[in-house]
Amino acid sequence: MNIRQILVEKAIAAMVAAGLPEDTNPAVTQSTRPQFGDYQINGAMGAAKKLKTNPRELAQKIIDNLDVSDIASQTEIAGPGFINIHLKPEFLADTLSSANQDEKLGVAEHASAQNVVVDYSSPNLAKEMHVGHLRSTIIGDAVVRALEFRGDSVTRQNHVGDWGTQFGMLIAHLEDLLNQGVDLESVALADLETFYRDAKKRFDDEDGFADKARDYVVKLQGGDAHCEKLWKLFIDTSVKHSEEVYAKLNVTLKPEDIKAESAYNDALQGVITLLKEKGIAVEDQGAQVVFLDELANKDGEPSVFIVQKSGGGFLYATTDLAACDYRSNKLGADRILIFVDARQSLHFSQVELTARKAGLLRDETTYEFCPFGTMMGEDGKPFKTRTGGIVKLAELLEEAVSRATDKLAERESDLSVEERAEIARKVGIGAVKYADLSKNRTSDYIFNWDTMLSFEGATAPYLQYAYTRVRSIFRKAGIDAASLNAPISIVEAQEKALAIKLIQFEEVLDQMIAEATPHVLCSYLYELASLYMSFYEACPVLKEGVEPATKESRLMLCNLVAKTLAKGLDLLGIEVMEQM
Ligand code: ARG
Repeated sequence: MNIRQILVEKAIAAMVAAGLPEDTNPAVTQSTRPQFGDYQINGAMGAAKKLKTNPRELAQKIIDNLDVSDIASQTEIAGPGFINIHLKPEFLADTLSSANQDEKLGVAEHASAQNVVVDYSSPNLAKEMHVGHLRSTIIGDAVVRALEFRGDSVTRQNHVGDWGTQFGMLIAHLEDLLNQGVDLESVALADLETFYRDAKKRFDDEDGFADKARDYVVKLQGGDAHCEKLWKLFIDTSVKHSEEVYAKLNVTLKPEDIKAESAYNDALQGVITLLKEKGIAVEDQGAQVVFLDELANKDGEPSVFIVQKSGGGFLYATTDLAACDYRSNKLGADRILIFVDARQSLHFSQVELTARKAGLLRDETTYEFCPFGTMMGEDGKPFKTRTGGIVKLAELLEEAVSRATDKLAERESDLSVEERAEIARKVGIGAVKYADLSKNRTSDYIFNWDTMLSFEGATAPYLQYAYTRVRSIFRKAGIDAASLNAPISIVEAQEKALAIKLIQFEEVLDQMIAEATPHVLCSYLYELASLYMSFYEACPVLKEGVEPATKESRLMLCNLVAKTLAKGLDLLGIEVMEQM
């Protein structure tokens, strides 16, 4: 249930009844302090300004027409014309009772499910996955999980880079190694980074190698069987590397979600022909170019978008145009979400403008470039190894688990070695993911092991620990949480604060889905865990002397907290454990 949405509808109805136009913004928000109620309708001020009337009088007219008796115990006007809404404890209790019996915790499916294509992770297969791919992979995956939870139909598209000139050099090098009898799996491609570096060195230094590499690109693009076989070998190995990283990271991408750049090869010529026919692309120094006035610089010069090179070769851009056509016209997407580094923002603006003009993107499809900032080291520069090299993602994740292992070893535990290893894995990976997901998507952030692995503050370990604390209550009491079903009564202020937070889960998911921002869910879960801690301090559950009905009601709240934490973390791709 989305309380804000319900209040928006009720507020609009009241405003219309009070004589205001239907498009008046009711400006419904969550209250920041309990004395302002739980929600506020702030639209009276804006509307009064337009009508040049008294905002408090207008607010009173809105209240007179506001029908919230089913959900609110009290409404009042505050300050210049805020309308404060105090939710009814009985309403909160009823909502939570039904949430407890619903496997989706009361979160409704989207009324009109959408068809959403999500382009994420999308590494270049010429190299091994490095930290630069972390953000796209985990942010995209969290949004995908949330979309599916709300009932949208999602097509994951891992738009891997498997095409382009580097592959000529890579397969020429691969061929030589194979001719020398080098074992493919264990030697030649065991470390793609080294492999790439060696090939590049030969390309730069070795006589004749660059020519051979260029020749192989042409052959590959012309469909030469030998080159294609070498290329396929290389790609398969590289894909296997990324699958290992996905498994470690607990992301939902599968090999069948790969829709590689090469998959669009056959469509590229058609895209250029169409752009030429429509007069959108014109020849400029032998190349095909789209001039975009919409993106002109301050001197009024249009932005230059090259869609075909002068030799006839196609580009990254051409592929993205073909991808628009596929996603919008073939798959019929309502939304296309693309999770790529902010540095590519000009590229995606050019793609969208061009694709819309050419009809490669239907008007009904939104094209949502979802940029993210860079992960920085302590020195404020992009995160690197101590020696300044690229940090491989697989190695970063190993380090996370090993650091979590050390950290957990400081705590007393009667768990087995295997159990502790499993916990360390969940904590380490969870810590890296939460630290990243909890930052505003578009800002850069500083990567810090100590902060992310801390049991204090907004971190995965804190939330995972909070979950184990709630679960331990049920263990202690010998109660099966799954079959718990007792009446809830909301009496204490801490109970009310916790109850309201719990029913705001859907609201938060809606925001996360609309804006593609997992950090709102991260903050929500942290606030939920913190409110739980205050509740637990103030409202004893298992203590002697607590009325049985109160105890059961509080256990219901505990259980809902546990379930919401687990579900919320799951939507972020973070695992929980029963004990720690
Ligand atoms: N492979 C590209 C890179 O690593 C990202 C691709 C993103 N998706 C797209 N449709 N261009 O920079």
